[in-house]
This record gives sequence, C-alpha cells and structure tokens, in this order.
Amino acid sequence: MALSRIAEEIKASGTIKINAKIRDMAQEGISVIGFGMGEPDFDTPKNITAAAVRAIEDGFTRYTPTPGIPELREAICEKLWRDNGLQYAPTQVAVSIGAKQAIHNLLLVLSDGGDEVIIPSPYWVSYPEQVKMAGATPVFIHTSDETEFKITPESLKKAITPRTKVFIINSPGNPTGVVYTEKELRALAGIAVEKGIYVISDEIYEKIIYDGIKHVSPASFGDEFMKKVITVNGFSKAYAMTGWRLGYAAGPEKIIKAAIRLQDHTTSCANSIAQRAAVEALRGDQTPVRLMVEEFDKRRRYMVERLEKLEGISCTMPAGAFYVFPNVSGLYQRAVAGTDVSNSTELVEILINKAKVAFVPGVCFGADDYIRISFATDMAQIEEGMDRLEALLTSREGML
Ligand SMILES: Cc1ncc(COP(=O)(O)O)c(C=O)c1O
Repeated sequence: MALSRIAEEIKASGTIKINAKIRDMAQEGISVIGFGMGEPDFDTPKNITAAAVRAIEDGFTRYTPTPGIPELREAICEKLWRDNGLQYAPTQVAVSIGAKQAIHNLLLVLSDGGDEVIIPSPYWVSYPEQVKMAGATPVFIHTSDETEFKITPESLKKAITPRTKVFIINSPGNPTGVVYTEKELRALAGIAVEKGIYVISDEIYEKIIYDGIKHVSPASFGDEFMKKVITVNGFSKAYAMTGWRLGYAAGPEKIIKAAIRLQDHTTSCANSIAQRAAVEALRGDQTPVRLMVEEFDKRRRYMVERLEKLEGISCTMPAGAFYVFPNVSGLYQRAVAGTDVSNSTELVEILINKAKVAFVPGVCFGADDYIRISFATDMAQIEEGMDRLEALLTSREGML
C-alpha cells in the first residue's frame, strides 16, 4: 500500500540528518566537530529556568488555553510594542510549539492547493516542505553571495503571478545571515501589500544581529502593512530555549483566530511550564542576550577570517544569525583529499570522513555552491574545526 502524497513528497531535514550522522560517528568513538547546529550553545538564562521551576512547584501543569496563557500573550504584546513598534491586542497573538508550528499554522490558514508561496533562496529548510504540506507550491527567488543574498523589488515582481498568496521574508536570515535594511524591507513588503499578498515575516533571529544594525519589522510600516503582514518570532534563538519549544505569531485577528482553531485540533496549547518561563524571558533581565550576541560576534569574525584564507572558498560576513554561508564552488573543479568533488553533498561527505568536521550541504537550503557553518559552538571547537579544515585543504593529499 502506498503512503500518502505528502509522505512521498516531504524531504528529510538536511540539518537533522547531519546531526544524526555526528551522533552515530561519536558512538563508534570517532570525534567529529559538528558545525551543523541551529541552536545556541549557551544555556537558558538562570532567571528563566527558575521561573519554570516555580511553575512546576506551583502545580502549573495543566492544559492552558490553545493560544497561550493571558499573561504570556500580554507580555508578547508589550515586547512587540517595545522592540518593534507594533501595537497588537492579546487576541492578535497566538503562542505555538516553536516558530516552526506558528509558520506551519499560517501556511495552512493562508494557502490552498494551486496557490503559490514565494520564498527567497537560500531558504530555511522547512519553508518549502511546509508549503507543500499545505498543498501549495513553493516559488523560489534565487540569490547569491554576489548580491549579499538579497532579493530585489524587480525579482519579487517577476516571481508574482495571479496565484501568489504568500511571500515569506526572513531577516535576519538562515542560512545566509542576510539582514535587509528598512528601505529594502519597505520596498519588498510594499509590493506584496499592494498586490494583496500576505507576508509572513519570520523574525526568529531578530536579536542576533551585528554591527549595531537595528532590526525592523515590516508590519510596523503602516496600517496597510498591519493588515497583510504576520510577524513570527520565538524564544529558541534569543533566549537559548530551543528545547522548550515556544514561538508565536501576531497579526490580523481573523488569521490568528483561524490559526488557533487549527492548533486546537493538532497540539492544542504549548507547554504550560515553558509559557511561564517565557513570560520571564520577555519581562526579565535582557543582559544574557547581549552577552551571547557579543560572543557570537567574535566567533563570526574569526570564522570568516579563517575561511577567507582558504583557496577555493570565499565567505561574506553575515550581518545576523549564527551561520556563515561560504561559497565553496571553487573546490568543485578539483579533487579534495584525492576524490573528485562536484557538489556540496560530496564535499560535506569528504570533510566529515577525512577531516572529521561536519557542515551542512548548501543544497539543503537550495544553494549547491555553498555550505552552512554554524558558529553556535564554542571558540575552542571552532579553532580546532578550522584547523582541521585548513589542514585537509592545504595538505598534499588534500588538494590533488
Ligand atoms: C529561520 C527559522 N525560522 C524558524 C525556526 C524555528 O524555530 P523554533 O521552532 O525553534 O522556534 C528556525 C529554527 O531553526 C529558523 O532557523
């Protein structure tokens, strides 16, 4: 008996696959330095874990309303106003199990079979798969390091058809670290809004941004934008809370209510204890976020400097998130460690086997000329990993 259409169509997550391979090799006693992680290596700040402990001790262990406890919805509204200049009522906010579920809910609510969803590429691995799960079709706008991985108003206009329903924008972006300026976001979101297209603005990396750049939310550009843009954010990256599984969407009430109805029948509420902790994350001391970003900044500079020295690799400086996305296509014309390499999957395979360093092939993000390297791993590991990579690529056997 065949499985469903969705089961046949949905691809395994490339990032999750790499991490499973590292675990398997570790079990065989082989030490691999992993750069595949999409999560901060920092612990959740103590004030947040303490709030969770209090919630357990208070017996706060039952189902909550599907869209979240009132206190958290209010704290999210305060945050959106304070940080982003967005004025939402708690009824316009829905808490989900990670930003991942928030985006999935929205895609199911906003698109149908036959609809198209525009995704700038390179993209976060789950966007195309979630679009397909909604029965819609992903439409990619390709970018490269030559244009800092940015789409343009012209390329967006070209991608729009009468079937376009949603445009996903992710700034700061995974995997490239792209950060759009306010002017660029205004132009891009403006085109979508004018054409009546919904915008899902995935702002999960909002806090992980460098060089004093200020994050801007497209929904803040005016009333027309508030009607069409849905802002998605979460706790995983800014507060090192990946395992707590908590994110949210804020937008027009009709859309948020529909997302809640849907979530009523899938997971219902997010974890009650995590929700109490999240209130503390938003209202408590923000110093740990700043310290984490300062540390990421050092690693980012170090990594780009090391990579830029390697022949065949060129690397732009990411403006946000915690990944570098070097162009490695200069290695494809030759053999690496005695083996011909012609794409990112083959290169990653060789690097993991011969240099014992694990990266994610760019093809997972729709860009085969690149690999993704996370710097959410401590400096000692980064140094060792870069040494191993350099040793392999500069050794006599490395380049043949
Ligand atoms: C761009 C982007 N959006 C959303 C998510 C989902 O985050 P979470 O579900 O942990 O909140 C991730 C996680 O890797 C991401 O990189």
